[in-house]
Amino acid sequence: MPSNIVENATGASRAGQPLVRARGVAKAFSGNAVLHSVDLDLYPGEVVGLLGENGAGKSTLMHILSGGLVADSGTIDLAGEPVRFGNVSDGISAGISFVHQELSVVGALSVAENLYLGRFPRTPLGFVDKVLMRASSKALLERVGAGALDPAREAGSLRAGEQQLIEIAKAAGRQPRLLILDEPTSSLTPHEVESFFSYVRNAREAGTAIIFITHRLEEALGLCDRLVVLRNGAIVSERKPAETSREQLIADMTGKPAIYDYKPRAIDENAVALSLRNVSDGVHIEDISLEVRRGEVLGLFGLVGAGRTELLDVIHGVRPLKSGYLTLNKRTFSPRDPSEAVKSGVVLVPEGRKTAGILPQHSVRDNAAISSLRRFASRFFSDRSGEASRIAAFTKSLGIRMANDMQPISTLSGGNQQKVIFARALMAEPQLLLLDEPTHGVDVGAKADLYTIIAQAAERGLTVLMASSEVPEILALCDRVAVLSKGRLAGILERSEMSEDRILTLAFREH
Ligand SMILES: Nc1ncnc2c1ncn2[C@@H]1O[C@H](COP(=O)(O)OP(=O)(O)O)[C@@H](O)[C@H]1O
Ligand SMILES: [Mg+2]
Repeated sequence: MPSNIVENATGASRAGQPLVRARGVAKAFSGNAVLHSVDLDLYPGEVVGLLGENGAGKSTLMHILSGGLVADSGTIDLAGEPVRFGNVSDGISAGISFVHQELSVVGALSVAENLYLGRFPRTPLGFVDKVLMRASSKALLERVGAGALDPAREAGSLRAGEQQLIEIAKAAGRQPRLLILDEPTSSLTPHEVESFFSYVRNAREAGTAIIFITHRLEEALGLCDRLVVLRNGAIVSERKPAETSREQLIADMTGKPAIYDYKPRAIDENAVALSLRNVSDGVHIEDISLEVRRGEVLGLFGLVGAGRTELLDVIHGVRPLKSGYLTLNKRTFSPRDPSEAVKSGVVLVPEGRKTAGILPQHSVRDNAAISSLRRFASRFFSDRSGEASRIAAFTKSLGIRMANDMQPISTLSGGNQQKVIFARALMAEPQLLLLDEPTHGVDVGAKADLYTIIAQAAERGLTVLMASSEVPEILALCDRVAVLSKGRLAGILERSEMSEDRILTLAFREH
């Protein structure tokens, strides 16, 4: 290994000089700017994942690097020399192979003819050397994990994934210095993806620089040495797979903050906080049995009308129980009204802020204090400063953005109002927090904050039962999910069983 090659943190070799150095690359189509001053270095022996939403400019940038398009401005150096490609063949002669997103296999030709299109091997007499072509085609196909394909077959008769492999083999056959793969795996089977990955790893070993464009973040995280995210024509991040996550990458791609990333909690299966046995209200919900463990966040999912709110209302003493029973900390629990529930440590944050009992003209401080007034009652008038400092501590820890806590709550954004309602609920020091659509109608930033607040409260041992109609929210936060359908329990999924598909399948179950 030459002495100017250093090991980067991901183990890939980085030559002192990049193979490709792009600076200030910009491109507009009829006045519409698609790339703004892109700087990108690509090193031999490195796989760079290029990520971005549709339309971010990934393919356009690749067309510029490979000669298919000319940039409006900016420079490209190849191995230290400035280059200016006029067309694709200039790029190919310079050692750049581009496997396009769209298939361009010629259907009427054989697999072998496609692989050697434009550069058929010849016999000394000038005829196409079919024997050599077939043999080397076979070897090429094997290299990309497509050894099972017959080089003599008509390419048009192959399925999309096989045609894709021909394109990859064709690019590999040119022994490129830079290999660009634009969504190569979209039509491959999982087995083909595996073989293709081994080819990419071998090419990296051999010193090829590789750009891999994909929408499959797991693939990018598993294969690449470096991940570059393009958003609206500009590079917004460069990350190492070991130091990032799916959520972070999605946040980079979309420009929206990462929502909460689920982290497992240690929950004692025997520490049952709330138990429901054959609970019915005689109207909306029927025969529901479930348990919530201490410190657990149990999701309650269902379609509109499934009975989520009604079930929470029964637990909170708003709606009378017709049959069945409840226990709280293994003791019978039958609150006749919400104040009894609150006394037992069960607090509800209801659906919809407007109905949640906020007093719009009253201050943030008064609104936060309402349900904990009882706790302050004996010293309410004598110790307003104690109350004020406690509320201040809560509003600060929940990141409520406001000028001061004496301003009317109605002057806060929806997300911040919801945080005040959370502050109120948490200040009552509940054992069990019932949440009904806790982030409905709040923006993504406040949503992420609320998720953190809920997760942190659970970490401290608070038990949470959270009704939600958003599957991503359930997946972001819950340790398990109970799915209701038409007033009945359709099933409970453990964390390891939770997926959008399974949750929705249960939600649509007809009993
Ligand atoms: N030849 C073209 N003429 C006009 N607009 C184009 C052309 N090629 C791409 N675009 C536009 O440029 C933007 C970026 O496209 P593209 O580079 O294909 O993005 P990506 O590959 O990231 O999905 C899109 O808005 C697309 O419509
Ligand atoms: Mg594209």
